[in-house]
Amino acid sequence: MKTPVEGFSKLSKAEKIDWIAQNCTKDPKTSKQLLEQYWNTDPKVQKLHDEFIENTISNYYLPFAIAPNFLINGDYLAIPMAIEESSVVAAASKAAKFWMERGGFKAEIIGTEKVGQVHFIYNGDTKKLSDFFDRVKPKLLKSVSSITQNMEKRGGGINNIQLRDLSDKIEGYHQLHCTFETLDAMGANFINSCLEQFAKTLREQAISFEAFTEEEKNIEVVMSILSNYVPHCLVKAEVSCPISDLGNSDMPAEAFAKKFVRAVNMAKVEPYRAVTHNKGIMNGIDAVVLATGNDFRAVEAGVHAFAAKDGQYSSLTHAKIEDGIFRFWIEVPLALGTVGGLTSLHPLVKLGLEILQNPSAKELMQIVAVAGLAQNFAAVRSLVTTGIQKGHMKMHLLNMLNQMGATENEKKQLVEYFKSHTVTNASVKEALEKIKK
Ligand code: MEV
Repeated sequence: MKTPVEGFSKLSKAEKIDWIAQNCTKDPKTSKQLLEQYWNTDPKVQKLHDEFIENTISNYYLPFAIAPNFLINGDYLAIPMAIEESSVVAAASKAAKFWMERGGFKAEIIGTEKVGQVHFIYNGDTKKLSDFFDRVKPKLLKSVSSITQNMEKRGGGINNIQLRDLSDKIEGYHQLHCTFETLDAMGANFINSCLEQFAKTLREQAISFEAFTEEEKNIEVVMSILSNYVPHCLVKAEVSCPISDLGNSDMPAEAFAKKFVRAVNMAKVEPYRAVTHNKGIMNGIDAVVLATGNDFRAVEAGVHAFAAKDGQYSSLTHAKIEDGIFRFWIEVPLALGTVGGLTSLHPLVKLGLEILQNPSAKELMQIVAVAGLAQNFAAVRSLVTTGIQKGHMKMHLLNMLNQMGATENEKKQLVEYFKSHTVTNASVKEALEKIKK
């Protein structure tokens, strides 16, 4: 980019494309063609996507895939996943099939509580603030009644508001710590609207609270925002089977079970391993979160905070062997929605939810947790048996061949060849050159 641009957002889409192609790419004509090639052929669908965000110039595709045969609480589901990493969907499908033959996944909701906070500074008498809060709490709740009435009709709303004193950390720092039940909505807009109204009411009421001095009346609201840390919006998913059912061609059942538990325990005690272990879990979680139009950044932030809740970053999954039974489970906080946001706007998200039989938010939490557990099972199983590269490179083979310019026929031959040979960059290159000759 040679010069800054002013008023970019006010340019038309064509002008934006022109500007970016001319100023930031080597071959403007080809760049423009590429951007247009990724437009949806239906102008109405394209407009919908254009309007999701500001300054849209094209679409960024990710594969939308299906991992079938998930047996969850007795029901079969095919799970849609949006992800670019070659081996993730294959691994999820393999784990789903493995556990389908061993009773499937069990999942349960532990809690659905969401959190939001009004952060404010109050420098004054603590007892007076607490009296003020007791007095003002019903008024806070009343002030949001127009926002909460629909949610309340459906059984949700505000669970509680607490006054928190954090002045030992920052001078005068206090919070209204609020908890919510947002049912099938992720609830970010609902929560933030309530919080901003709470903040306004808090300030207004403080000004007329007789017991406050002039300084105490002047509460400074710093911000009002939901928290993506939702340790009580929690779901558990698990699998179990007799150890003897775990046998596979790579390793005897008992040795496998022990090694698997050991691998999970390593992730529990050692953060370097825990981060990668949990990354594997997030391969499954994010892919379903994305395919169902949910906010994967919120989920990521909340999940990793949860993984560190005991003071050290640790595994989200747990495994043990008890009385000859292998048990493997995950507990993970997931603030998800199946209404609102992109869920009814993005055509593929709508289809993704339909494929999942239009789940409630609670059901989606269970599905997503299962996807994370399945993914972790597949990854750890590979790691402790064959090593991860065997399966991963096999799945990556097509990417490599595409990159090397292989024809369809060459790809077909080489996929066959590499069923019994080790895939590495060098071996694929060599085999392709041989065929081409
Ligand atoms: C790769 O995307 C994920 C893994 O690294 C996860 C793990 O190590 O458990 C294979």
